[in-house]
Amino acid sequence: MGGDASAPRDVAEEAARRRTFAVISHPDAGKSTLTEALALHAAAIDEAGAVHGKAGRRGVRSDWMDMERARGISITSSVLRFEHGGMLLNLLDTPGHADFSEDTYRVLAAVDGAIMLLDSAKGLEAQTLKLFDVCRHRGVPVITFVNKWDRPGREPLELLDEIEQRIGLRPAPLNWPVGVAGDFRGLIDRASGSFTRFHRTPGGARRAVAEHVPAERAAREEGGAWETAVEELALLDEIGAVLDAEAFAAGTCSPVLFGAALPNFGVGALLETVCRLAPAPSAREDETGGERPLSAPFAGQVFKVQAGMDRAHRDSLAFVRVCSGRFERGMPLTHAQTGRPLVTKYAQTVFGRDRSTLDAAYPGDVIGLPNASGLTVGDTLYAKAPVVFPPIPSFAPEHFMVARTTDNSRAKQFRRGIEQLDKEGVVQVLRSDLRGDQAPVLAAVGPLQFDVVAARMADEFTAPVELTRLDYSTARVTDKESAEVLNGRRGVEVLTRTLDGSLIAVFVDRWRLRAIEREHPGVTLTPMLAAG
Ligand code: G4P
Repeated sequence: MGGDASAPRDVAEEAARRRTFAVISHPDAGKSTLTEALALHAAAIDEAGAVHGKAGRRGVRSDWMDMERARGISITSSVLRFEHGGMLLNLLDTPGHADFSEDTYRVLAAVDGAIMLLDSAKGLEAQTLKLFDVCRHRGVPVITFVNKWDRPGREPLELLDEIEQRIGLRPAPLNWPVGVAGDFRGLIDRASGSFTRFHRTPGGARRAVAEHVPAERAAREEGGAWETAVEELALLDEIGAVLDAEAFAAGTCSPVLFGAALPNFGVGALLETVCRLAPAPSAREDETGGERPLSAPFAGQVFKVQAGMDRAHRDSLAFVRVCSGRFERGMPLTHAQTGRPLVTKYAQTVFGRDRSTLDAAYPGDVIGLPNASGLTVGDTLYAKAPVVFPPIPSFAPEHFMVARTTDNSRAKQFRRGIEQLDKEGVVQVLRSDLRGDQAPVLAAVGPLQFDVVAARMADEFTAPVELTRLDYSTARVTDKESAEVLNGRRGVEVLTRTLDGSLIAVFVDRWRLRAIEREHPGVTLTPMLAAG
């Protein structure tokens, strides 16, 4: 994996054959199933479930934390990598549970494209909408996959309409289902007109047989179902529902595919579409607004820091997206934020739960750097030519808790633990002179983050904490002058974010915020990236 260090390859060529993407969906839409099906299709793994299976379902699952086991959800992000037709696909896993969304958002900073996965019976759901907003904000092009077509769902035209009306994304179907919901016959490929018939396998939903049938024969054999599909396709042609490559790249048009991940039907077409249409890595904007070309010396950005992945070693692993150049294991790097050198002797690829050493990586790849306690989400690493990438925006927290140690003899461990969780971005740590160092305020997008804090502080840092809820629900970035106006007012407090020193004003509710904005139109209250 990753190539042979002794034979450097052309960076541009290597970048061009990479597709780095994520699947965005609402829990239960079938993300794990689709991930397995994609990898299976690309023959990356021998048996579905070897990488992403869920609790007891199909073999191995990631279980680095007891909490994860208890809840049966995946908190960790890992990377699945597979080759298909000469292309190299890096599929970055996004934790599915609504409460871990901050993590998911960060993963979206490291991809070049996304698959928006919908359940055919449910259409656009809450978590999908939030994640789609992030893609739109970051200009990440989206391919839509409507899943579970093997069972009763909604009308395809109605689903397309929902996509267009609710999120303003112009859908461009690449294939079209034949047969009404619950009586699925197969898919017509819109470009070639060819038909792939769906055959259920007796006694199991797990795998369908795909039969390629010439259009004339399909028209004879499928009767009314075929006619309806043909009429619908004519309608799509009429309204111009075709793929506009420019609009897709700009994030305003989305190719749509129908299929069923569980029986692995239509997944091959999706894989081909990702290879053909999803963008390859390209030059990345740096902090000055200039661009770091792919061919520049190595540079990468940390998009995730994960601690405790390996129980035996209690290490932390920084996930770094390669943005330019060729990375070689052992290469000396500089940490842009501190100017410190970094050893990369133990760089790894991250494949599901397994890690193996990595020799070389190219733009679009993800490398894992162990013992990364000095690295923070958003940090830049580079070789030779210095560069700093803009920070990954953090999302407006909506939940706030004060943390205190329950055992004063563990004050040092408490401090260290809170600092580490801050760096990893598990929570944002806010402080004020008034509250003092012993009682930092922890801010999160979802309340479950606090369970992670409590569990890790107790287990990993041996500094159990007591968390007390604060009555705030919304936050804005402010400045020193405005802070003077805000301080002392009822229902608002100004705190300093430890990580970057910025001033954050927190409000009990939006009404209080609006009232202050009305009374003091001069104060700076900049919205943070909304989590939905
Ligand atoms: P998630 O990661 O997005 O949360 O979803 P997951 O893949 O776990 O899928 C959620 C449920 O939907 C699973 O059923 C899964 O089998 C089912 N599913 C996924 N894709 C399809 C599909 O194309 N067709 C049909 N009919 N079902 C699909 P479950 O009952 O929760 O689990 P299991 O007992 O099937 O493993």
